[in-house]
Amino acid sequence: MKNNIILIGFMGAGKTEIGKILAKKLNYNFIDSDEIIENNEQNTITEIFNLKGENYFRNLEAEFIKSFTVNRLNCDCADNKTAAVKNGHFVIATGGGMPCFNGNINLLKDSGTIVYLKARPDTIYERIKEEKHRPVLNKTDFSISDIKNLLNKREQFYAQADLIIYTDGISPEGAADEIKIFLK
Ligand code: S3P
Repeated sequence: MKNNIILIGFMGAGKTEIGKILAKKLNYNFIDSDEIIENNEQNTITEIFNLKGENYFRNLEAEFIKSFTVNRLNCDCADNKTAAVKNGHFVIATGGGMPCFNGNINLLKDSGTIVYLKARPDTIYERIKEEKHRPVLNKTDFSISDIKNLLNKREQFYAQADLIIYTDGISPEGAADEIKIFLK
């Protein structure tokens, strides 16, 4: 397997948690696009949305995946990290909206194998209902049907993944194992 593995899916799908476990199992590096954007901007995602708006954040996401793709395709592999990117030794957890804007899904496809971590709206609700910092749901008292509506709009992008893993009722460890088996 010589490919980066890119985890996509709705908020609460488990991209970060499963990604970290999977990276350990495969001995790959792990990166999280939200974390990199927060570090670069020296601010939280919520504050970026509040201060600069969603479009600004979506542009940062597009830049993240563009730089990743460019580095991968054009690097001369002078250092180990660049070589690792080129050879596909990364598990990348993306923000829930990343594949759905600016044609990012196509760049993601060029960058590795895409795995959609899928979950039912009610499962997602249970996982994220206590978290009050979901800027795209736009309020603190979102409902299962808000999740359903947004998920319906996004499904066409998520469905372009190479592999779909259903995460309802399985542990992050179990999901990582399933991905490993399927990608062998
Ligand atoms: C978003 C999901 C978040 C984060 C931002 C926007 C979305 O990432 O990128 O709040 O549009 O679904 P997670 O999916 O990691 O929560």
